[in-house]
Amino acid sequence: MTNILCIGAGYVGGSTMPVIASHCPEHRVVVVDINEERIAAWQSDQLPIYEPGLDEIVRQTLGKNLFFSTDVNSNIAEADIIFVSVNTPTKTFGRGAGRAADLQYWEKTARQILENSTTSKIVVEKSTLPVRTAEAMERILNSNGNGLHFDVLSNPEFLAEGTAVRDMQNPNRVLIGGRETESGRKAVERLVEIYAQWVPRDQIITTNLWSSELSKLVANAFLAQRISSINAISALCEKAEADISEVANAVGRDERIGRHFLRASVGFGGSCFKKDILNLAYLCEHYGLPEVARYWEQVVKMNEYQEARFVSNMVAAMFNTIAGKRIALFGAAFKANTNDTRESPALEVCRGLLEERADVVITDPHAMENARMDLGELANRVTFEPDPYSAANHAHAIAILTEWSQYTQLDYERIYSSMVKPAFIFDGRNLLDHKKLYEIGFNVHPIGKPPLTRLVTPEFTHG
Ligand code: NAD
Ligand code: UGA
Repeated sequence: MTNILCIGAGYVGGSTMPVIASHCPEHRVVVVDINEERIAAWQSDQLPIYEPGLDEIVRQTLGKNLFFSTDVNSNIAEADIIFVSVNTPTKTFGRGAGRAADLQYWEKTARQILENSTTSKIVVEKSTLPVRTAEAMERILNSNGNGLHFDVLSNPEFLAEGTAVRDMQNPNRVLIGGRETESGRKAVERLVEIYAQWVPRDQIITTNLWSSELSKLVANAFLAQRISSINAISALCEKAEADISEVANAVGRDERIGRHFLRASVGFGGSCFKKDILNLAYLCEHYGLPEVARYWEQVVKMNEYQEARFVSNMVAAMFNTIAGKRIALFGAAFKANTNDTRESPALEVCRGLLEERADVVITDPHAMENARMDLGELANRVTFEPDPYSAANHAHAIAILTEWSQYTQLDYERIYSSMVKPAFIFDGRNLLDHKKLYEIGFNVHPIGKPPLTRLVTPEFTHG
């Protein structure tokens, strides 16, 4: 039996470790966190994160070979392999503020591992980290004077929220980076053995430490870059009367380009894309590559432009004023099938509309609590309404901001009849049947497609 410990019971720790426990019944898996409320929630019927399929796996393994605890120190002492999946947000202070990764939680964990270890261990970087962080980790851990040896591995996580369990059950690759020493190779092989319980060996890639750390940042940068690229073209489509879905299909059919991640939207959100790209840019600058840094920063700038453009389009279409108008936001989560609202474009749009003094109502099937928390004081100016029909009642406009499938099933005739006319739908996810909505009577404004409207667009009225 191997004692596996994961420090950090957030989205990553909380969704990966139950899957490891379910595939490795012979090992004991403990997930610890300093957040008592979170740990209590993991042990309850109401898990702290919403992830399809996760409840079932936790139910099957909890108390058998999966345990959650706040006792970090004694669990460190007992562990053979320690995954570290603490948060690595963007630094908000000092050198590199707004760009570099804040490694304080990371470093605290390293020191805590050192203080509580009485045996040698494998320490696995699961968090997303700047390239060469493992070097600092090794230095801290191996500075002990008691003959213990720590092998540091990099095993970045590629799961996406909303499909975390599926991604972990059936990953298209597992990446493990380690030192090319005898002990390093042994440590890599030990981790490979764990994943090989359910992942075919040829899908487990082993590399040197720095390639592994960097690949994670690069994978996220490439994914976000595709979204910013298609979103940039969506702006052009709106001017040129081309249709972004048709363009994405035509372009993506080229196998060299591929069809994934070409869905134009109000913008990408989530806790990682922006922070990882800014971190990548910061690293480039650190290594004396300012041109490379500027190149990647543009991906984030384009995303900010897309979010701002969405709000401007709404204001322009609604006769250049939305002050006092009720606007229903359908969706607060940064994508469907998650309750996560971190960096959600929905909340950015909400902020933009509040600035224009609109009367904003938010509805979302799972993310209302997090939306309220993330909006902070602004939440006092927003109405939270669980029922989408009530949210739309007496509204001038609906903005679709999360691609929840339930929004495709609503009775839009009923919604239309309850709204102020002319009624608008701004579909920030190109989710709905626009032609049908137009036939009902809505003025429909998709992303990257000509609007379907009976009104003369303000652009023409105002010259
Ligand atoms: P999260 O904020 O949801 O969870 C991190 C947890 O670590 C928190 O519960 C926090 O209380 C805990 N923690 C912090 N310091 C601690 C300490 N000293 N001891 C014990 N617990 C501590 O973050 P997350 O979304 O799970 O992300 C974790 C890492 O994984 C980040 O580096 C992120 O970039 C990366 N990542 C995230 C995703 C994702 O989908 N969210 C996917 C891949 C990689
Ligand atoms: C992303 C990556 O997909 C994961 O591989 C990675 O592990 C993770 O970040 C991470 O490091 O945190 P995630 O942010 O959970 O996963 O979700 P995505 O499916 O990548 O979506 C990110 C954002 O892009 C969402 O707001 C989504 O709506 C948007 N998106 C995605 C688009 O606007 N268009 C697309 O075509 C695809």
